[in-house]
Amino acid sequence: MKLTLLAAFSLALVISALTTGCTGHHPNEMVHYEPGLGEIMSLTSMRHAKLWFAGQGQNWALAEYELEELQEGFEDIAKFHPTHKAIKQPIPQLIAKTMDYPLAELNKAIKAKNVALFTQHFDAVTAGCNACHQLSEFGFNIVTRPAFNPFANQDFTSVTK
Ligand code: HEC
Repeated sequence: MKLTLLAAFSLALVISALTTGCTGHHPNEMVHYEPGLGEIMSLTSMRHAKLWFAGQGQNWALAEYELEELQEGFEDIAKFHPTHKAIKQPIPQLIAKTMDYPLAELNKAIKAKNVALFTQHFDAVTAGCNACHQLSEFGFNIVTRPAFNPFANQDFTSVTK
């Protein structure tokens, strides 16, 4: 009986430490994490590559998903990083100028399930990435079509043709 009580008490202590103590914040206070621009860009780079392989594999549902993720990344950038120390123009404006049109066209190609159109507009998106890097003093950062598929643990071929 004593042991059970002790165990229950220890468990309660552990739980209260986990829910309150560890963060050093009041339990009701949300801990916000804002990803840096470079961090979101690393994800953007991964999505861009996955999008390519999804389109080439004609897995259109996956392509649509990756495109949405890319778009959400740009929305986060506009929200969390509307300005940047090294960049003259507001970032949401740069994204609108370089990304909105090619992403919309790529979306149409995905909806049409057309590989040739997909490839054409994917290249236009890539050109948009590079245009924004040029405009934001990051022109040395050059995006290309992925040369090979580094994602050995994912199937990009069609399941939805
Ligand atoms: C707002 C204009 C803009 C657009 C649009 C843009 N980038 Fe970037 N990108 C940046 C800036 C600015 C940085 C440098 C961020 C930093 O490290 O502070 C960057 C950095 C990067 C990096 C380097 C991240 C790293 O740590 O290796 C990659 C890769 C990248 N972008 C890929 C892309 C791809 C792919 C696209 C298009 C799908 C794209 N970017 C679109 C502005 C842009």
